[in-house]
Parts: sequence; C-alpha cells; structure tokens
Amino acid sequence: MDKIEQDFLQALKTVLGQPNPFVPLHEPEFMGNEWERVKDCLDSTFVSSVGKYVDRFEVMLAEYTGAKYAVAVVNGTAALHIALLLAGVRTGDEVLIPALSFVATANAVSHCGAIPHFIESQFETLGIDPHALNDYLKHCSLSSSEGLTNRLTGRRIAAVIPMHTYGHPVDMSSLLEVANRYHLPVVEDAAESLGSCYRGQHTGTFGQLGTLSFNGNKVITTGGGGAILTNDAKLAQQAKHLTTTAKQPHRWEFFHDAVAWNYRLPNLNAALGCAQMEQLPSLLNRKRLLAQKYQEVFQDVEGVGFVVEPANSQSNYWLNTLRLEEPSLLVRDRLLTVANDAGYQCRPTWTLLHKLPMYADCPHAPLPVAEQLEVSLINVPSSAKLAGAAR
Ligand SMILES: Cc1ncc(COP(=O)(O)O)c(C=O)c1O
Repeated sequence: MDKIEQDFLQALKTVLGQPNPFVPLHEPEFMGNEWERVKDCLDSTFVSSVGKYVDRFEVMLAEYTGAKYAVAVVNGTAALHIALLLAGVRTGDEVLIPALSFVATANAVSHCGAIPHFIESQFETLGIDPHALNDYLKHCSLSSSEGLTNRLTGRRIAAVIPMHTYGHPVDMSSLLEVANRYHLPVVEDAAESLGSCYRGQHTGTFGQLGTLSFNGNKVITTGGGGAILTNDAKLAQQAKHLTTTAKQPHRWEFFHDAVAWNYRLPNLNAALGCAQMEQLPSLLNRKRLLAQKYQEVFQDVEGVGFVVEPANSQSNYWLNTLRLEEPSLLVRDRLLTVANDAGYQCRPTWTLLHKLPMYADCPHAPLPVAEQLEVSLINVPSSAKLAGAAR
C-alpha cells in the first residue's frame, strides 16, 4: 500500500472506529416517534394520499424552510418534474443544469420533453459556477419576445436548476444575478440540502420553486418522498392539483381538467416524515460534529483535503466529501478500493451527466472544473450516528 492509501485508511479508522463489519455511506435513523406515528396512521386506515400526516408534514416543511408553501410528493424526481412544468418548461426547450449532478436532475428535464444543457461547476461550492455561466450565456441571444435562445440549436433556454451538491449551497447571490440578467426562471434542486442555508435563508426557497427529496439515503427519510417549495400561492395550488390527477374537488364527481399525475405522497410515508422532522435538529447537529472530525483528522493526510461549507453558507454536510489535491482517476480508485475492502463504504462522485449514453448528444458548456471534480471527489460514511463513533 502506498503512503496516501495507508494514511487515508488510518484517518477513516480514527474518525469512524473499526468497521463492524461494515460502515455504510448513509444510514437512516429512527430514534424518535417513528413507530408511534406510523402505527397511528395504520390504525386510522388513512394510508394513502389523503390524511392528517400529509397536511402536518407540509406545514412542518414550510415552517422549517421558511417557504410559504410545501407540497409533498412521491419523490424528489417527481417534485422536480412538476416544478419545471410550473416554471414554464415545455417540450423542445433547453434547461441549464450542472453536469455534475445525480442523474435525476437531468431525468426530470427529460420528463418534460426538454433537453438538459450541461453547465460548469465551481471548485469551492461543487455547484453551478455563476461566473462561468454568465460568460457562457453571452453566446446565447436574448430577446424580449423569445427570451433566451441557444444560437447553436435554435432552442429556447427555459430555466436554470442550481443543485446544492452534498448539501453545500450554491453561490445563490451571483446565480440569481445571472438568472435575472437573462430572464431565466430558477428552479432549485435542493434534494440533498434540507437543513442547509445560504446567507441565513434555507436552500430551495430562492427560486420560483425548489424541490426536496426524502429518499432513504437523505438527511431525513419518508422511505421515498419529496416536496415542492414555493412562496407563490397559485403555483402551490397548481402543484397540488397536477400531482393529484388534476381532479377538481367534489364530494362524489370524478372530473379531471388536465392530463396530470398521481404524485401525491401517501399519508403513511408522511407519518414517518413528521417523526423524522422532529429529529432533524439533532441529526443536523451530529452531522456537523462528524464533519468537524473529518476536517480535523484529514488535515494531516497529505494529498487529500476535506470539502468545507462554502462562504456565507451553513451546510447540512449530507455527504462528507474528500478531495484529492491532484485529481487522478487512478489514485481515486485505489483509495476507493482500500476503503471499501476495509469495510468503509466510500463512493466516487457521479459520472458527469454528458458522458451518460442518453445525454451524450445534449449541449454542454466547457467543463474543465467539473472534469477535475469527477476524478478527485470521494464521499465517505456520513450517517449522523457516526458522530458518536468520532473520537
Ligand atoms: C441532486 C438530486 N436530485 C434529485 C434527486 C431525486 O430524488 P428522488 O430519489 O427522491 O427521486 C436526488 C436524489 O435522490 C438528488 O440527489
């Protein structure tokens, strides 16, 4: 084993203790009222998309994030799909998204019949680089009637999706400036950033619409689930309508006024969500403690840095992330091999989206930083309960 591999493994051991036999990347935790709330929901027989827990979960999310409205849906991808439609994305449009993201960001664009257009990342935040975006958009044409058009494809650019990577907020002040300059609606993919704030404001509340995910690997979970956040009453009402098969409320009549979706979050999942929301402050405190420990210990590992929350931000440290000082696929994969062999579940970042077969023909900006990040980031075990193992 090379020195960097030995040091890397030793640092993981120092933070996480000995694997017994395996330390997962991210485990959910059910230490509060989860059993009680789910049992109460089962006893009520209201297990499907109507019930007190859905309403309560939406209120809890809105209160916590500071959004005026939260609409609970089946997952984060569905949330993003509907949010994009409500922002005006239509078939044949292009939507600007980071090349470095989970595939769901691009899939949601495709579900609208639109085309993802991949944008450069910022080294510090791991999210969209607003300055690179600004320079890049100078090559597009902006008109008062057509909006922003990609000169090369002739297609309208309909929106931009900042995604807060691993919980680290995008530089939203700069991003919003660029979006305003080009009249671009902003839909935030905050799937990974419940509990993360930029300049004291919760992520997902800066754009017209924002979305969350409660997948089993997220900070809190409903098994599967998501939510749409907005401050606009009409958009919230439309979100609820479109995710409830566009059924007009009536005591018995089945009248639906649009082709729509069955995307509402079941009450059973929302019951779990309510109990998880009660645990959120404790989960976040412990995740930040764990991040602090990683930061301290990895200071002494030559060649490997720890990704800290960006300026003006408070991160939920959803997934703690290490960064090779010299980007190298070979070294990254050697470190992944020794860590996983030893029982520490570590993962690389995502393959850049424009390299996936179904997105290979989509337009993309120059991506030198994203390319570097792709071969230098490693996610390490990040469950809140590991803060207890941190010594
Ligand atoms: C950045 C990002 N966007 C969207 C999603 C989609 O969420 P879901 O899995 O709940 O559909 C996820 C996570 O799963 C994600 O990490």
